[in-house]
Amino acid sequence: MQIGPFRIDPPVVLAPMAGVTDKPFRVLCKRLGAGLCVSEMTTADPRLWHSQKSRLRRDHEGEPEPIAVQIAGYDPHMLAEAARFNVDHGAQLIDINMGCPAKKVCRVDAGSALLRDEALVARILEAVVAAVPVPVTLKVRTGWDRQHRNGVAIARIAEASGIAALAVHGRTRADLYQGEAEYETIAAIKAAVGIPVLANGDVDSPVKAAMVLRATGADAVMVGRAAQGRPWIFREIAHYLATGDTLPPPGPAEACSILVSHLEDLYAFYGEVPGVRIARKHLGWYCKDHPGAEAFRAAVNAVATAAEQLRLTRAHFERLPLRRAA
Ligand SMILES: Cc1cc2nc3c(=O)[nH]c(=O)nc-3n(C[C@H](O)[C@H](O)[C@H](O)COP(=O)(O)O)c2cc1C
Repeated sequence: MQIGPFRIDPPVVLAPMAGVTDKPFRVLCKRLGAGLCVSEMTTADPRLWHSQKSRLRRDHEGEPEPIAVQIAGYDPHMLAEAARFNVDHGAQLIDINMGCPAKKVCRVDAGSALLRDEALVARILEAVVAAVPVPVTLKVRTGWDRQHRNGVAIARIAEASGIAALAVHGRTRADLYQGEAEYETIAAIKAAVGIPVLANGDVDSPVKAAMVLRATGADAVMVGRAAQGRPWIFREIAHYLATGDTLPPPGPAEACSILVSHLEDLYAFYGEVPGVRIARKHLGWYCKDHPGAEAFRAAVNAVATAAEQLRLTRAHFERLPLRRAA
């Protein structure tokens, strides 16, 4: 898949997830085969740009290219400024969030709430595309609710506004995360536009990725929740798409080395105390469905130092193979 000057190969992309796709996780997913990783969303509100959280979200030091930053907001001018600001801080690709149903985002008519107002969508997209010299991508749901599945209309607006690629989550805003993603609307969107389309929603295995690509005709798949605790899913999907064969999951030695390097990156990025706290949720995902997971989680959540967290992690994972993608 080509997005502006960037060749996205393999066509398997990490979805933006607030609280998950920070720099350490993006770097890990890239190393384990993702063709592109999109940052957590950053607010378009300049009053919040200088918080410690925003500063960390702008740190792209050492991140493999292309550096993709997602912005969220509702005001065309503010979003254009946010895009410029992020490009000045290293973004090589700007993604606009019109896919997130979170109350925090929708309450102020940002995220997927924007899908209700097609004229405003056009104004936002044109303003952001005109503001920056880098490709601008858009992430949407299939519509506002099942009675208003206007994904095709939004996709046409996106293409006419100069959007370089479109990621579509196969649920409406009203669906939240309930039910199963549907791929018919993504197929209709792909058929309606000439820009690359990324299919998103419930892709949790190499076989499912191949099925979704077939069903939608999309140019790439975007994987979110299935990468939590399984960042090697990217190389598994890429390998399956390229060869039709299934890769085995990492063995205990590689698993330990992946987890230890992830934890060490978290400590280095956030500092030891916040790093240990943030690592707990990843460890919870890594050990999910493992024998002894409960006891490991209880023990690892009770320790407060990096050294102890690493020691318990090594002791637990060096004995166990990791989960295979479903
Ligand atoms: C914890 C979490 C945080 C998310 N944050 C964002 C976000 O910041 N921006 C966005 O566009 N979508 C966000 N999403 C939606 C995902 O990008 C994705 O569209 C959704 O999870 C469906 O894909 P999946 O079934 O592969 O998880 C988030 C999802 C989760 C689970």
